[in-house]
Amino acid sequence: MKAVICPKYGPPEVLTIQELPKPVPKKNEVLIKIVASTVNTGDARIRGLKVKGFMKFVMRLMLGITKPRKPVLGVVFAGIVEQIGENARQFKVGDEVYGATGLNQGCHAEFLCISENKAITHKPKNASFEEAAALPFGGQTAIYFLRKGKIAEISNPEVLIYGATGSVGTAAVQVAKNYGATVTAVCSSKGKELTKALGADKIIEYDREDYTIVSDKFDIILDAVGKSSKKECAPLLKPSGKFFSVEGLDIASESTEYLDYLCQLFENRKYKAIIDKVYPMDEVVEAHRFVDTGRKKGNVVLRIIH
Ligand SMILES: NC(=O)c1ccc[n+]([C@@H]2O[C@H](COP(=O)([O-])OP(=O)(O)OC[C@H]3O[C@@H](n4cnc5c(N)ncnc54)[C@H](OP(=O)(O)O)[C@@H]3O)[C@@H](O)[C@H]2O)c1
Repeated sequence: MKAVICPKYGPPEVLTIQELPKPVPKKNEVLIKIVASTVNTGDARIRGLKVKGFMKFVMRLMLGITKPRKPVLGVVFAGIVEQIGENARQFKVGDEVYGATGLNQGCHAEFLCISENKAITHKPKNASFEEAAALPFGGQTAIYFLRKGKIAEISNPEVLIYGATGSVGTAAVQVAKNYGATVTAVCSSKGKELTKALGADKIIEYDREDYTIVSDKFDIILDAVGKSSKKECAPLLKPSGKFFSVEGLDIASESTEYLDYLCQLFENRKYKAIIDKVYPMDEVVEAHRFVDTGRKKGNVVLRIIH
C-alpha cells in the first residue's frame, strides 16, 4: 500500500510516499480502506518537532528520540471497512466509518488496522468522506475542553472562543452553540464571515479591536489557537469562570462517544464540516506547507483514495 512516510523530523520536504506492506487485522481489529484524512496542526507539530524548550525533549521521548518511531503520520480517517478480525463484531465489511488514532497515527496510508474498541464509529450518513475526515480533530478537542468547563451544567452559558477560525476554533463555536451558549468569537477580519456562518452571536476582529476591553463577562473562555493567555483573559471571566487553552500539557483524548456526538450533530445539520483545501495524497508536502502557515480556515483534507 502507498503511505506517507516521515523518516526524520524537519520541514514538509522530509515527507515521502513509499510502498509498505498492507496490514492484516488482529482478532479484535478491523482493516479500513482509507478514503480521506486530514493534515492538521498535530501532524505538522510531530513532523517538525514544533515545541519549545523542555517540551522538545518530552516530545522526543514520546515520539522517538532521533526520528518518529511511527513514521506514518495522520491521526484521523474516514473510509470503508475492508476486512474484519475473527473476533470483531461491531462492524461489517463495507461499513463506512470514521475515527481517530491519536498518538498511534498511521492514517496517511491506504490502509489502517484499528481495534474496534478504539475511537471508530459509523460516519454520518449525509457526510462525504472528506467531510467526515474533517470532524474529529477539532471536534473532539472542542468537546473535551468545553465539557471540562462543565458547559452542560451552566444555564445560558456565555462563552468566548479566542481564535475561532482554525480547526479547533470552528468546532468550538459550533459545539458551544449546540450547548445553548451565547458565543463571542475572536477572529481576524478575514475570518468574520466564516465565524458568522458558524453561528457566533458576537464577533471581535482581533486585527481591528482589542478583545480584552469587551464589557461582557464569560463562564468559559477557550483559547482555541494558543495565542492569548490566562492573564490576558482573567478580567473577562465571571467569578466562577474558567479559562482553557489548547496550548499546554492538557491534551484532548479521542473517544467513540465524541465521534458519535459529532455524527449526531452533523446528521441533524447542527454542525458543519469546515474544509479549507483538499489535497491528493501525492501533494502531502504542499498540504503540510499550507498547514504550517497557521492561516488555514477549518481543516485541510488529504484525499487518500482518488
Ligand atoms: N491540547 C490539545 O489537545 C490540542 C488538540 C488539537 C490542537 N491543539 C493545538 O491547538 C492549536 C490550534 O490548532 P488548529 O488545528 O485549530 O489550528 P489552525 O487550524 O492552524 O488555526 C489557524 C487559525 O487560527 C487563526 N489565527 C492565527 N493567528 C491568530 C491570532 N493571533 N488570534 C486569533 N486567531 C488566529 C487563523 O486565522 P487568521 O490568520 O485569519 O487569524 C487560522 O484560521 C495548535 O497549536 C494545536 O497544536 C491542541
